[in-house]
Amino acid sequence: MDQRRIGIVRNYFLEQFRTTPLMVFSPGRINLIGEHTDYNLGYALPAAIDMGIVMAVQQSKGTSCTAIAVDKDEKFSFDLNQLKPLSNGWINYLFGVVDEIHKKGKIIPPFDVVFGGDLPPGAGLSSSAALENALTFGLNELFGLGLSKMEMIHISQAAEHNFVGVQCGIMDQFASMFGQKDHALFLDCNTLGSEQIPFHPKEYQLLLLNTNIPHQLADTAYNERREVCNKAAKLFGVGSLSELSLQQVEVQRDQFTRDDYQKIVFVLEENTRVISAVAALRKNDLRAFGELLYASHAGLQFQYKVSCTELDFLVDLAKASEDVLGARMMGGGFGGCTLNLIRKNTADSFIQLATEKYHARFNRALSAYPVVLSEGTRQL
Ligand code: GLA
Repeated sequence: MDQRRIGIVRNYFLEQFRTTPLMVFSPGRINLIGEHTDYNLGYALPAAIDMGIVMAVQQSKGTSCTAIAVDKDEKFSFDLNQLKPLSNGWINYLFGVVDEIHKKGKIIPPFDVVFGGDLPPGAGLSSSAALENALTFGLNELFGLGLSKMEMIHISQAAEHNFVGVQCGIMDQFASMFGQKDHALFLDCNTLGSEQIPFHPKEYQLLLLNTNIPHQLADTAYNERREVCNKAAKLFGVGSLSELSLQQVEVQRDQFTRDDYQKIVFVLEENTRVISAVAALRKNDLRAFGELLYASHAGLQFQYKVSCTELDFLVDLAKASEDVLGARMMGGGFGGCTLNLIRKNTADSFIQLATEKYHARFNRALSAYPVVLSEGTRQL
């Protein structure tokens, strides 16, 4: 996050409220591998990135709160005791966080908040988790709520479930909060235990290609996928699909439609891929790691069916290039970005080629973001 943006948010706050704010940075996340496994209590390998939300927050001098999104130039005033979901997107994340803090029996005074950032919305980089974490963290620091980081991510996730209506897993909030520079988090979503896995791709780098198709429409499909998995787990009499083996699932195959069966198999295979990916990184075997990314994409495309033509097109382009070791769609799906592991000195020419081909095929602009793995939510 560049200093200029931090300065803009801080100054905006100073001008509006004339008090010194507490400054927080909360990053977006990528996920190296392990997609749609978090709510199945399996494995994932996410990481915080160097793009995110900058927030300025301070106790209000008045009796109500004011929230300002600088990039959108939007302002809301609200009363802490009258929080109801609104049709506007971003305010619900803030309301949700406050509501969950209230549910914990914590009383907070009115506050003012200004935020901005460089996460493209709808790109699957978890701008929502970054926003939730930024506010939870900021309020915790400001008012000494005594919340642990683990409690904070549960507040952020519950805000999304209860105020926004997306039944997301815990991966995004976890990665945004606990990320560390140059490390990915090998996350066990069942125990919420995690291990920092060093990520030093040497002459390679991570590159995101954004289809610029906002994935908003995906919310319903996301909740539907979750429903399929929950029902299947119930039928097997287990708490989550990740407790099952492929053999156990195979035996019950005729209980499911072909489509649902493939989704269940995907989840189990994706869990295994995460374990293999961690092993590959430990050996610094980037080729093996890259192959797992391609395999993950194939599963998301054909089995779990959360990809789209644009994402598939970009992954096919990556496959055709010798300089890309692996690529896949990332996040919930139906739009957003692909993640590419690409040879450093070839990234620019690949971006140019992809941009041209993408535009020629879809008449739509492509955006590219090189990313590095960074530290999680913190005070600035
Ligand atoms: C979204 C959700 C996450 C996770 C991913 C898919 O980003 O917020 O919890 O389920 O989709 O892996």
